Amino acid sequence: MKSLSPLSTPVRVGILGLGRAGWNLHFEPMRKLAGYQIVAVADPLPERAQEAASLTACQTFSSLDELLAKSNAQLVVVATPTATHYQDCLRVLRAKRHCIVEKPMALTTEEAAELVSLARSHGLGLFVHHNHLHLPTYHHLKSIIDQGMLGTLFSIRVFWGNYARRWDWQTLRKNGGGQLNNTCPHVLSVVLPLLGSPVRRVFADLRNIKDAGDAEDHVHMVLQTESGVTADIVVSSAIALSGPKWMLCGSRGTLISDGEKSKLRFYDGTKVEPLNVIDAAAPGRKYLSETLPWEEKELLASPAPVKPFHENVLDVLTTRVQPIVTPESAAEVVRVMQEVRRAALSKTQK
Ligand SMILES: NC(=O)c1ccc[n+]([C@@H]2O[C@H](COP(=O)([O-])OP(=O)(O)OC[C@H]3O[C@@H](n4cnc5c(N)ncnc54)[C@H](O)[C@@H]3O)[C@@H](O)[C@H]2O)c1
Repeated sequence: MKSLSPLSTPVRVGILGLGRAGWNLHFEPMRKLAGYQIVAVADPLPERAQEAASLTACQTFSSLDELLAKSNAQLVVVATPTATHYQDCLRVLRAKRHCIVEKPMALTTEEAAELVSLARSHGLGLFVHHNHLHLPTYHHLKSIIDQGMLGTLFSIRVFWGNYARRWDWQTLRKNGGGQLNNTCPHVLSVVLPLLGSPVRRVFADLRNIKDAGDAEDHVHMVLQTESGVTADIVVSSAIALSGPKWMLCGSRGTLISDGEKSKLRFYDGTKVEPLNVIDAAAPGRKYLSETLPWEEKELLASPAPVKPFHENVLDVLTTRVQPIVTPESAAEVVRVMQEVRRAALSKTQK
């Protein structure tokens, strides 16, 4: 196990894949950050690489092998289609370069574990782009759970739904497409650390309802942790009307939220009498009832108390602070995704 040796700035960057993620989520923000210098890009579409060179005077290549052989990039961003993340990362790490990889980092638990172990043994940074951990919602929900306002958390419900037909490469299983690989990593990266202990039981239903390819456009998963907390998660582009995006259920209250604005209904446990069970005929043939001292609150998510993804990566590489997204936490997302895939009852239903 080697520790990271700090780099000096600017950190030299190579970017592999200049599509929606490679261009908008990595090339554009990184070229504007003083601590990075984009020295190389690679994409099989030459016009994409040329466009990058016209903005940053970087070297241009058509493949990762060329980029690794001919550039002096210290950090390589893998933003290629999902099915090649594992192989691409493996080559980057074997070439002793630090790596940022788009989510999901790999498609199986074994692949993810291999990448984590290779990075650790070479003393290299492996940064998975779980950008939702850098956004306000996660920190907002976590702080409400930690403050204990809702009592003990027993269930999280998540509904990320819309209705949109899709027909690009992301709708094909052979490319690692589908909602489970595409959108669920975002949800799981946020939910798993809220649950408090590892997921042990999984129910899942994956369906293709209306997209062009053969990959699922509807995911329903129910997860249960070691300590018994459940997460009931729907991520679907086949649902035309929406429910609350987030719901946290605790022993003394409930929260519903769109991720930015939350409504809470809860009571203070010290303001109610303890309950003593009556194990006999209901007195006076009446249902027992009480009026609880409910409080209601609306809370707005504050800006996330952590730096944006690329700034955190730069800090880790240059000053050895801890990464917000550890490779192990990203590998845990892959493990749960694999369990969901295994548990799925039905694959397609058009
Ligand atoms: N974190 C996020 O919010 C987010 C958002 C969008 C996409 N993504 C992820 O990014 C990845 C890419 O998705 P996208 O939407 O950008 O796809 P895209 O189709 O828009 O872009 C993929 C790019 O990679 C290039 N490419 C293909 N094979 C290549 C290879 N072997 N070497 C180099 N370049 C290659 C293509 O020419 C294209 O320019 C996916 O895994 C997806 O899950 C993440």
